[in-house]
Amino acid sequence: MNNNSPTEQFLQLLQTSFKAKQFVKLTCSKPVGSNKDLKNIYGRRIEIKGQTKISCTYRFTTKDEVKNYALEELLLLLQEWIGNSFLNVDLLTSEQKISLQLNKKRKARLLIQNQKNEAPSITHDKQKKRLILAENNPYLKALGITNQTGKVLQSGQKKFRQINKYIEIISSILQQTKLPTSPQIVDMGSGKGYLTFALYDYLKHQLKLDISITGIELRENLVDFCNQLAQDCKYEQLQFLAQDITTYQSDKIDFLIALHACDIATDIAIAKGIKADANAIIVAPCCHKQVRKSMQCTTEMQSILRHGILLERQAELLTDGIRALLLEAHGYKTQVFEFISTEHTPKNVMIIATKGKKKSTALAEIAAIKKEFGIKEHYLEKLLFEPQKAQKIT
Ligand SMILES: C[S@@+](CC[C@H](N)C(=O)[O-])C[C@H]1O[C@@H](n2cnc3c(N)ncnc32)[C@H](O)[C@@H]1O
Repeated sequence: MNNNSPTEQFLQLLQTSFKAKQFVKLTCSKPVGSNKDLKNIYGRRIEIKGQTKISCTYRFTTKDEVKNYALEELLLLLQEWIGNSFLNVDLLTSEQKISLQLNKKRKARLLIQNQKNEAPSITHDKQKKRLILAENNPYLKALGITNQTGKVLQSGQKKFRQINKYIEIISSILQQTKLPTSPQIVDMGSGKGYLTFALYDYLKHQLKLDISITGIELRENLVDFCNQLAQDCKYEQLQFLAQDITTYQSDKIDFLIALHACDIATDIAIAKGIKADANAIIVAPCCHKQVRKSMQCTTEMQSILRHGILLERQAELLTDGIRALLLEAHGYKTQVFEFISTEHTPKNVMIIATKGKKKSTALAEIAAIKKEFGIKEHYLEKLLFEPQKAQKIT
């Protein structure tokens, strides 16, 4: 007969399962005590630098935190948590489910059920699954991201990660967006075509969508290069036009993308997308000059905005914030977020707009913000409401 308390028996079983490599998962639930914000803790086995540890995810109401512990550390913590922070602790091993349950008076009981449980992968630093694969991708070679054998070059690592991040984001937008059967995608300011090729490859070859993509780019040499590459890759529904996006006319734009388009080029792209009633508009603005030049703040903010760098940052914030509000005024729901860490590029804010409801108060909010910061003109607003007066600013 085992004279140990249920809690001691539970901790012993945890120790034994861990040493026998049978530990699958630990869950602490039914929170009690002062930390009401902490809902659960989940523990799983991981390997870090040759050492086996337990990675614990602390689930708070609004965030998750992860801490890794050696078994001995976790056993000490559990003694503290059981009864003080949680009333239930479940241990899954490859053979059993072991539950320690405490009632309000902290009387504990141990329940053991035999069941088979599969252990998840324990590799902590496992390779992230990429949506765009480096191997057998002719455009990645031609764009200087991979070498002849399809290995990502040292110099191409950042760009490769960036491309994959874009595709991940676009893939998740596609899941939330209704698109017609043969969607037309327009990439405004497509540059050397890094993203355009990857997007075509992903949508056409992996998702098997019947898409057409048009890249619009001012620089003729880049357009020639991209058209030749599209031909070499046999990407028949991918084309590039040497044109200013201002003069690009199309009523059919289902998905509009403009990444790192300079200053008002982002506004021109958004306006084209709204006019064509695009299902999704995705922009990652580059430099923000127009609003900064048009700002003359006379309120108390002036004492802060007299510093050039702060004025610049405030102008960026206002430019993109007003862009999002204008999209909302035109029946889009928006998300503004940092899409890639600043370590890869300082231009890292992305605005995603997908079809939603018109925000009726958006224009009044814009008017109030413009007044507060002394903004005479926002180029996108001009393009949308007084297009004949929208002078091209260079
Ligand atoms: C910073 S690059 C970004 C290229 C690409 N979108 C990317 O993220 O890798 C911006 C590109 O937009 C082009 N561009 C700027 N203004 C434009 C306009 N009005 N019409 C067409 N292309 C434009 C530039 O020539 C440049 O190649």
